[in-house]
Amino acid sequence: MKLFDVYPLYDVTPVKAKGIEVWDDKGEKYLDFYGGHAVISIGHTHPHYVKRIKEQLDKMAFYSNSVQNPLQTALAEKLGTLSGCENYDLFMCNSGAEANENALKLASFHTGKSKVIAFTNSFHGRTSAAVAATDNPSINAPINKQQEVTFLALNDFDAFEKAINSDDYCAVILEAIQGVGGLDEPSTEFFQFIAKKCKENNVVLIADEVQSGYGRSGKFFAFQHHGIEPDIISIAKGMGNGFPVGGILIHESFKPSYGLLGTTFGGNHLACAASLAVLEVLEDENLITNAAELGSYFKEKAEEVPEIKNIKGKGLMIGLEFDFEVAALRKKMIVEQHMFTGSAKNKYLLRFLPALNITKSDIDLFFEALKKALK
Ligand SMILES: Cc1ncc(COP(=O)(O)O)c(C=O)c1O
Repeated sequence: MKLFDVYPLYDVTPVKAKGIEVWDDKGEKYLDFYGGHAVISIGHTHPHYVKRIKEQLDKMAFYSNSVQNPLQTALAEKLGTLSGCENYDLFMCNSGAEANENALKLASFHTGKSKVIAFTNSFHGRTSAAVAATDNPSINAPINKQQEVTFLALNDFDAFEKAINSDDYCAVILEAIQGVGGLDEPSTEFFQFIAKKCKENNVVLIADEVQSGYGRSGKFFAFQHHGIEPDIISIAKGMGNGFPVGGILIHESFKPSYGLLGTTFGGNHLACAASLAVLEVLEDENLITNAAELGSYFKEKAEEVPEIKNIKGKGLMIGLEFDFEVAALRKKMIVEQHMFTGSAKNKYLLRFLPALNITKSDIDLFFEALKKALK
């Protein structure tokens, strides 16, 4: 059997990693400023993370959601405390798309309605409702097109007001900082307007924090830069530092009932151990503050590079916009400079999504390499 060929691959085979350092099968070292697509939050193979998972593996990897699992309870408690979202409940699943699928489904159950508002350049995943709310027709199959989604431009107050007043929407879903789309953000005024209008119209506000959450923006959640309270918050990527885990935080105003949501693997013991380890490291090593401070340092350095025309994002979720398409630059950064960076739907944008414990000297190395690659 061969692999179903859906990924264009760089010719690099990583076999070992520590912190932001990654080694390939030939022993060549690379620096990871991409975090495996914003997944690596506390650094590759962090010793506390490895220990926690190994210890759990020796005890028990999995049991179903039909028995007590104190690890899930401990995780919900710690997540509530660290994120400041104590008035939410946690439902665990396995990925970002699944988190958004459950968020949209719950919004529909809760309101009895089915239409969704999403935004231009959004990315919410590849499952049925999540992909329908993703602004990319090429990844929507005919079966996904049954879902009714209205796409609006970010920060267009008039279009939003018109839409939400005129139709029967169950949910508004948005990324507080767009990831795949290219680091565009709703303004604080727009976010607050959406939150107010959602309340007035019995529409569920879903903040997709799959990529921007877990400290990446310099606050636990990126919506917290805007003083709003979403009804549902979806999480994944940084939550498990590479262990496949996701979830939704559901405002306490939603009433659960047995069987409303469910999953076989979601919230399994290993996933909880990995997720607890991530929260413990985020707290012990002050990584959210580090993300905020190093993000500012990164932006100062970026401002010194004349080829960079625009700097987008917050904390360690940053996009550097050039006036040329960056595919060749990104390839040069990997092949010649041995540094991983990310791309976006915006072809002019290079994405910087490192682990949250990088240092100033790591950032200095990045800019030295970038300058060489730009020559
Ligand atoms: C904002 C956002 N939501 C959802 C997803 C989907 O997550 P997953 O690939 O884990 O299904 C992604 C993935 O890139 C994302 O960036």
